[in-house]
Amino acid sequence: MCGIVGYIGGRSAWPIIVKGLQRLEYRGYDSAGVAVINDGGLLVRKCKGKVADLVQMVKGQDLSGSVGIGHTRWATHGVPNDVNAHPHTSMNGKFVVVHNGIIENYREIKARLVEKGYSFKSQTDTEVLANLIESFYLNEKLTAEQAVKAALRRVIGAYGLGIICTDEPGILIAARKGSPIAIGVAQGEYFLASDATPIVEYTDQLIYLDDEQVAVLSSDGYTISNLNDVHVDPVITHVDFDADNIDKGGFDHYMLKEIHEQPQSIADTMRGRVQSETHTINLGGIADAMPRLASARRIIVVACGTSFHAGLVGEYLFEQFARIPVEVEYASEFRYRDPIINDDDVIIAISQSGETADTLAAIRMAHEKGALVLGVCNVVGSSIARETDAGIYTHAGPEIGVASTKAFTSQVVVLAMMAFALGRRRGNIDEATYASLIDGLVAIPSLIAQVLDSEPQIREVSRAYQLAQNAIYLGRGYLYPVALEGALKLKEISYVHAEGYPAAEMKHGPIALIDNCMPVFVLATHDKFYDKIVNNIQEVKARRGQVVAIVTKGDCEISKMADYVIEIPECDDALLPLVAVVPLQLISYYVAVMRGCNVDQPRNLAKSVTVE
Ligand code: AGP
Ligand code: GLU
Repeated sequence: MCGIVGYIGGRSAWPIIVKGLQRLEYRGYDSAGVAVINDGGLLVRKCKGKVADLVQMVKGQDLSGSVGIGHTRWATHGVPNDVNAHPHTSMNGKFVVVHNGIIENYREIKARLVEKGYSFKSQTDTEVLANLIESFYLNEKLTAEQAVKAALRRVIGAYGLGIICTDEPGILIAARKGSPIAIGVAQGEYFLASDATPIVEYTDQLIYLDDEQVAVLSSDGYTISNLNDVHVDPVITHVDFDADNIDKGGFDHYMLKEIHEQPQSIADTMRGRVQSETHTINLGGIADAMPRLASARRIIVVACGTSFHAGLVGEYLFEQFARIPVEVEYASEFRYRDPIINDDDVIIAISQSGETADTLAAIRMAHEKGALVLGVCNVVGSSIARETDAGIYTHAGPEIGVASTKAFTSQVVVLAMMAFALGRRRGNIDEATYASLIDGLVAIPSLIAQVLDSEPQIREVSRAYQLAQNAIYLGRGYLYPVALEGALKLKEISYVHAEGYPAAEMKHGPIALIDNCMPVFVLATHDKFYDKIVNNIQEVKARRGQVVAIVTKGDCEISKMADYVIEIPECDDALLPLVAVVPLQLISYYVAVMRGCNVDQPRNLAKSVTVE
């Protein structure tokens, strides 16, 4: 979580930092702060609230200086307030720190520092680290770099760090363990950030620090070493992404823009991989791993949140087409329950950000047990992308809205490509079926465009339920994970309590909740469950529930029973999640807007969850 930006070079740091923080605000937004060094010494400004509040606070102040660090916080230790906001300055003012992550042993370190006479202003774990660094620096007469390393050798937990030492104002120190740090390399200047978004408009040359590496940047150059002082040869990655992609492009919110981008993002996911003329699927990223995947006895998908829901769709796809048994696990549970993993199991980790701490930990555990681990990630160069044995990028483009939309559909497209290709390779799908599945995939962008044309009607349906306190989402088969995803979307951005269920489960409990105030969103398309879903709708109506049905275009039966119907075009059952999720994304978007919620930055959430 949290956004870190740093700059050292010949320009004024503050404008670069503030712009970078705005770009990173999706990572955390409960407080913001900046520290710059100039001829007058150190200046630290920070406050509770958004980057805009910080900008307001420093209006008219002199923040000149060409070395600086900034932060947008997602609080883990201590409530969001001015004092707990980063940067944190050590007691004697020698070190200023911005931090992403959690110092798990901060309590015992703090107790030892208190014994040595240190006092603390904030409740954060980060201030403890700042003072620990300073205590090494002052007591053992170390350089700033050595003091940072000495402190980090004592620390248990996760950190992405930007550090300034007031005695050594010509350097900026960065370090990483578990929380990403990217360094942008340009002529006579360096940029530091917790992901590439703030850097790409200045340089396309990036270095991603690995765990337990420390970088020391100055306007003359940089060095990278590990905590034991062993020099590390940097690997410079050329990033190819357009800074224009990270603007709202005329939409009111990133989420709406990203919902609308889906025809394009899905086409991008398939580009160069799906050949419609020859009816082939070519997955270069996992080509070497394909024999082992094709002979896997079991696939285990690990993921969190929306990526977990994509994984559930994957379970249906892999089992139907590849005929390989699949388990889908929450990464947070999987990593702690000593799961049985055999040599012939293949793990697929799904993550938009590629930085989710639980997913990363699950990958590491699976590796220790000898499994082949494949990644499905959106962020190029992310930790998960680097730590998996092979993988497929979703290529959905930067997703800034905290509520994941286009990443989900691209993940499902990747899983569909994998399942179809595996099915063909294993001889479970004949050539004609394979060709028709590929045609179906290629048609998806235009089918989603048709759903987007119904946006005005979907907005009116949202208006009817904008004041609802609760909602139920029902689906079966391929549409059960979509019901879960629809409920998650509504919860996270409009704070309406929502539950997703397999439709047939309703009668085992949730039906007790149905009354005339309960909207029930039912995924009721023309698939093999149609008749059963119609029965479920009757059951809801018999209890005076409100039904919004997502139906196949031209359906006449359900419109007679439901309060509202939203039509979607027909497609293969296996691809339905890609089309059916779109109206649910739009409903949650409009309900949130109508309730006055901050759609792109919902309360308590952050885009990438780099803490446990
Ligand atoms: C999605 O809308 C959520 N904000 C969240 O559940 C997210 O999908 C989850 O944190 C996993 O993130 P990842 O895909 O970046 O690993
Ligand atoms: N643990 C730190 C805090 O609570 C950093 C949180 C973050 O990553 O923003 O302040």
